[in-house]
Amino acid sequence: MIEIVTPRLRLREWKEEDKEPFFKLNSDPRVMKFMPKLLSKQESNDFVERIKLGFKQDGYSFFAVELIKDKTFIGLIGLSIPKFHSFFTPCVEIGWRLAYDYWGKGYATEGAKASVDYGFKELGLFEIVSFTVPENIRSRTVMERIGMRYVDEFNHPVLPQGHPLEKHVLYKIINVPYQ
Ligand SMILES: CC(C)(COP(=O)(O)OP(=O)(O)OC[C@H]1O[C@@H](n2cnc3c(N)ncnc32)[C@H](O)[C@@H]1OP(=O)(O)O)[C@@H](O)C(=O)NCCC(=O)NCCS
Repeated sequence: MIEIVTPRLRLREWKEEDKEPFFKLNSDPRVMKFMPKLLSKQESNDFVERIKLGFKQDGYSFFAVELIKDKTFIGLIGLSIPKFHSFFTPCVEIGWRLAYDYWGKGYATEGAKASVDYGFKELGLFEIVSFTVPENIRSRTVMERIGMRYVDEFNHPVLPQGHPLEKHVLYKIINVPYQ
């Protein structure tokens, strides 16, 4: 079982009891503002199962994140292999989604930095990408805080042409060990 521990967070594999709080954040319009839709309980649970399959198939995926101080589940942060095709795939992406009450505390940046370190040092990755809609400034700021750089724009192939969330910005960080 992989686990990453930072000063305030434990990034770990998923437990059955994470499903309820994960559904809560996936059905919160504030958290899902830049996603195509809120998730139903079934869709949220299916997402957890896909993540668990990722751990089995690839050896890593988005981690469940809990606070060390009281073990509260606060969301997901981690690395995953996107299943869609674009000019930058195959690749490894870094992503994050935290419950609204835990924004503004530096948790996403803390967990994301640790995930990039894990990807570079333990998995030996050469580069990690991230993407979101241009308006998602909080997410873009996390990308910039952890040293990612803007690369390009692309139309997300999973969304229908002309969808309001179709346009995405792509960021990247490269593993330069002796920089
Ligand atoms: C994207 C997301 C994870 C960013 O969360 P966040 O809390 O803004 O990001 P950080 O963890 O980096 O926190 C930074 C903030 O914490 C503050 N902070 C407070 N205590 C801190 C500490 N001890 N250390 C660092 N920063 C701290 C910073 O000053 C900063 O505040 P600001 O937002 O007022 O500038 C969150 O908005 C989210 O879950 N969004 C919905 C899902 C989503 O859009 N995901 C991306 C889709 S691609």
